[in-house]
Amino acid sequence: MVEGKAAFITGAASGIGRATAELFAEQGFWIGAADRNVAGLEALRAELGRDRCRTWRLDVADKAAYDEVIGEVAEETGGRLDLLFNNAGIAVAGFFEDIPIEETRRVIEVNLGGVINGIYAALPLLKETPGSLCFSTSSSAATFGAPGLAVYTATKFAVKGLTEALAVELSRCGVRVADVLPGVIDTAIFGDSPIYVEGQKLPDELRPAAPPAADSGAFRLVSPRPVAEAVWRCYAGDPRMHWYVPVEIEDIEREKTASPEAMRDARIASSGAGSD
Ligand code: NAI
Repeated sequence: MVEGKAAFITGAASGIGRATAELFAEQGFWIGAADRNVAGLEALRAELGRDRCRTWRLDVADKAAYDEVIGEVAEETGGRLDLLFNNAGIAVAGFFEDIPIEETRRVIEVNLGGVINGIYAALPLLKETPGSLCFSTSSSAATFGAPGLAVYTATKFAVKGLTEALAVELSRCGVRVADVLPGVIDTAIFGDSPIYVEGQKLPDELRPAAPPAADSGAFRLVSPRPVAEAVWRCYAGDPRMHWYVPVEIEDIEREKTASPEAMRDARIASSGAGSD
């Protein structure tokens, strides 16, 4: 059985999940890492050390498999879980009606279903662990809906809503609940995500590998590390419920709350939609 505090992180083979696994390992945590990407998991385990990290090939949308994995985590840690990080996610880009419904459903099953599966599976462990944190990755898309990512947006709003409701519900069990709304983070998700244009999937070689980041401001390119640092600061006791990385993402939230219609109209104008 492993000694000390334990974190279970999904999407840990890459990007934000991997950076968070590294940071919590630096802080002395044992890391349970889950992903579909076995090569990435192997690389992580080699980096962190086989005694401080165990990995599972897992599709978070598979509830039965998820339950089994968490059963094995409980055996490993003696029932302890200090951090559940629901981070695995996928994106499919394109206008709503251009994306096949099967792809749309998969986005929901992974981005929302996976978070729900994880919380069902891990909650008994979190409840048994003093100071535990249930943390999820939402998105800046959950400030104002991102055109071209409509259902992705919907899943990230859902994660944010789930966070708020559970933050209240689970306070009765001493489990803290929070999420992060990242802007444009330099990870593999952009190169990996299918894009649909006029009903056709863009060939892989035409997909931009680099994220579409701005030069400055809320949508500038940020490395995954500051997102991991937000998870750490939250675990360490900062009571914030929604974490914005970079912090300017919160300005969009405030502006949208003041007038959703003004933001809608500005985005329509900048997209060129409606003009012939
Ligand atoms: P990434 O692609 O580097 O990492 C995502 C990981 O999740 C990958 O290793 C992938 O194999 C894994 N994954 C995907 N589907 C899975 C499934 N069904 N079961 C298990 N693992 C699965 O991308 P990134 O950016 O680190 O993504 C992490 C989270 O951050 C996602 O939820 C994403 O939506 C969110 N996010 C990312 C932003 C960015 O700019 N990169 C911005 C806002 C949110």
